[in-house]
Amino acid sequence: MLLTFVAVAVLATAGIAAAANGGFAPPAPHSPNAARTTTAYYVILGFTGAIFLLVETLLVGFVWKYRSRGRARTTDGAQVHGHTRLELIWTVIPVVILCVIGLVVFYELPGISSAPAAANPLRITVEGHQFYWQFDYPNGARSINDLHAPVGQVVDLDVVSSDVVHSWWIPPLGGKIQAIPGRTNHVWFKADKQGTYTGQCAELCGLYHATMAARVIVGTEAEYTRFVTSTAKTGLGRAEFQGACATCHGMQGEGGYGPNLASNPLLTQPTALTAIVRNGRNRMPAVGDTWTKEQMQALAQYVKAHVYKGAATNG
Ligand code: CUA
Repeated sequence: MLLTFVAVAVLATAGIAAAANGGFAPPAPHSPNAARTTTAYYVILGFTGAIFLLVETLLVGFVWKYRSRGRARTTDGAQVHGHTRLELIWTVIPVVILCVIGLVVFYELPGISSAPAAANPLRITVEGHQFYWQFDYPNGARSINDLHAPVGQVVDLDVVSSDVVHSWWIPPLGGKIQAIPGRTNHVWFKADKQGTYTGQCAELCGLYHATMAARVIVGTEAEYTRFVTSTAKTGLGRAEFQGACATCHGMQGEGGYGPNLASNPLLTQPTALTAIVRNGRNRMPAVGDTWTKEQMQALAQYVKAHVYKGAATNG
């Protein structure tokens, strides 16, 4: 019995050790709001963890101490009535703990929800779609699934949705916020380090919710400028196909949940392609309902050049 308990305990802790930061703790924060959320998390974890240990230790201790030792099952235990001091203690201590937690949370909250004042904050629109993310930059550039941002700058995000409720969440860069049709929500980040930060749609939004991942790629100011002024445009068709179409139709258009596209002549007919991508058909959602003419052109060029393999000959 004891051996089993020890074995289980060892296995459980080995799992935690192996998972390191990957399982139980939040990822290392790289934005001031994320740092504050993490602080609140650890303060609450500290109290709840200590209480858990105290209660479980006492429980096991008492089970051991007051075990039956062969007493008759019907024998009554000692009768105890009221203990004012003890009752005061177990009322006052939780009240104090809750006050401390409340104070910490209310102290951290303003710095989580409001962006710090910045001379010229960068405003980017985040649009949730079944099943990808679309980003609009101030100069009109667009990107899919990868949000590019400069390091050390306050980035204000206007979060919207074109179909159902999604939830924007990049854990190292701050808390999650829902993308709700007909409403604009706000969230922000200020990345302290260059790198790629990953996140995931955090609201069940349909069949491919699980694949609705997002990345925030934080680079230098120059890298950001290069992206929004040139790379975003040249890579748009590819990003659209791989981010939106490939989810159902496969990376090479080989088919998956959606039909095979590689041999579909529709890929060479921009007008017909635009109609189906903008409006959807049957189970296909209107993935491109907010896509511009330039975006449709970029997609048409990409699929014709890289996805279409010629019409099937065995019809
Ligand atoms: Cu979008 Cu889940």
